[in-house]
Amino acid sequence: MDMFCVDGGRKLRGTVRVEGSKNAGLPILAATLAIQGEVVLERIPLLQDIVTMRRLLQSMGATIDDDRGSSLSVDTREVRESVAPYDLVRQMRASVCVLGPLLARFGKARVSLPGGCNIGHRPIDIHLRGLAALGADIRLESGYVVAEAERLRGADVDLGGIFGPTVTGTCNVMMAAALAKGRSVLRSAAKEPEVADLGEFLNAAGARIGGLGTSVLEIDGVDELHAVRHRIIADRIEAATLAVATAITGGDVLIEEAPTEHMTSVIQVLRSIGIVVEAEGRALRVQGTSDYRAVQLRAEPYPGLPTDVQAQLTALLAIVPGESRIIDSVFPDRFMHAAELVRMGANIRVHGNAAHVCGVTQLSGAPVMASDLRASAALVLAALAAKGRTEIRRVYHLDRGYHAFEKKLNSLGASIERRTDQVGPQIVPAPHLDLVRSAIRQRAGTK
Ligand code: EPZ
Repeated sequence: MDMFCVDGGRKLRGTVRVEGSKNAGLPILAATLAIQGEVVLERIPLLQDIVTMRRLLQSMGATIDDDRGSSLSVDTREVRESVAPYDLVRQMRASVCVLGPLLARFGKARVSLPGGCNIGHRPIDIHLRGLAALGADIRLESGYVVAEAERLRGADVDLGGIFGPTVTGTCNVMMAAALAKGRSVLRSAAKEPEVADLGEFLNAAGARIGGLGTSVLEIDGVDELHAVRHRIIADRIEAATLAVATAITGGDVLIEEAPTEHMTSVIQVLRSIGIVVEAEGRALRVQGTSDYRAVQLRAEPYPGLPTDVQAQLTALLAIVPGESRIIDSVFPDRFMHAAELVRMGANIRVHGNAAHVCGVTQLSGAPVMASDLRASAALVLAALAAKGRTEIRRVYHLDRGYHAFEKKLNSLGASIERRTDQVGPQIVPAPHLDLVRSAIRQRAGTK
């Protein structure tokens, strides 16, 4: 397993470019299963979750060719397999997005139920309710969803849930409805830009989807979707993460290709804290200041503050004078990062779906452990601002959603070294590490 050694206290300065969106690329790759022809995708980000989705498609028989520079071609015409196995789905929940396209194309699908997740309980009941409304027969068998339908037919279905709309649920049902017979109306649909990008992609392949970007999607099913070339939208969450990294170090960074039109709530929050944020064409200029103020925030569905930026903002607020509070109304349990930030000297108390943060003057480097994708980003940001060295273990969580993140931050002046974690998960306090190491050497018969 890899770990990061971060020497903090350095301001980030310079220019950095944002990759394509992970959360647009994943459902769009899944959607290739419903397309009869070669799909060429531009700006697909090179990160672990995308690799997992590619492996899933290839396991079903898809041909993927990526020696075309920054674009990728996917051809699923030879796909015969409509099974998404547990060992791939458990690595990445978004694999569940193959359910809709497989059902639409083959009339059947067998997809493992996604496993647990460190950001909370993540059911797929709304996915299944939507597909059943389109006429699918859905049953659970040994941890798998088994879905069958002679021909999906259009329906009027509400996708709302107690925690608001579902992003991948909207994607799944939209992909199925695109090839259903007749008209569908999807109400309480997710409005995230990644859902709209999937819809634009499907329309370019011949689908007829109206209302993209709103909570009501009107879809007239077609018989077939054809070959298409599509450029994935930029990743607003990576851009937001880079902006917070700049702010937490008091730096000055130009973030190129930032999708500023999808970042209104993030920009508003950063400015309310006292950070200078200016849109410069297709770029965002972020400048830290020495005058930050505490804020009360709530993460909610788009166009509200994204839950995927909540952990990063919690790290920033840990060094903002005063009492801040950040509520996560999408994933109420998404606070695994708080305890690790406290190990670095933060003063955070989590109560229910809120983190109460009392800003401290400075964080201190410490050995910490990543628990999920955005929590690991939060720990990196805290380490950038901390005094001294921070060791972050299990950075494979970070690699799932960020491409060469430490390289980007080091190009801006950070000091992050990626190392192999010899000891594996940090299960003992650092001082006893030598004991553990020698025990391992004795067992291995080496000195
Ligand atoms: C997507 O996850 C994103 N992942 C998440 O980003 C993001 O945090 C989330 O949307 C919210 O914006 C991808 O797009 C691949 P949801 P998703 O279904 O679709 C509940 C990251 O860090 N719910 O919108 O799985 C659910 O429990 C990842 O990049 C149901 O109750 O999230 C949650 O409370 C993490 N039943 C809320 O809805 C369902 O059937 C929103 O979940 C589905 C969801």
